[in-house]
Amino acid sequence: MYVCVCKGVTCGEIRSAVCEQGVGSLRELSRQLGVATQCGRCAPCARRVLDDALGQRENASGCGLAADVAA
Ligand code: FES
Repeated sequence: MYVCVCKGVTCGEIRSAVCEQGVGSLRELSRQLGVATQCGRCAPCARRVLDDALGQRENASGCGLAADVAA
C-alpha cells in the first residue's frame, strides 16, 4: 500500500528501511526515502508504520515484510 503518494513510497519500503537500514525516526525516513517532504499529508500514516516497524524490530519478532507484501 502506498503511504506517500508524492514520492511513491510504500508501507513495505518503510518497513524495509527500518529493519534493513536502521532508520529510527521520521526525520531519518524523510531523508532516506523522501517521505513527507512535499505535501506532508503522509506524515501521520508514515509515523504509524514507522512506530509499528520499530516495535517489531525491538521485539525481535521480525519486520513482517512478507505479511505486508502479501496484503
Ligand atoms: S503524500 Fe507524502 S509528501 Fe505528499
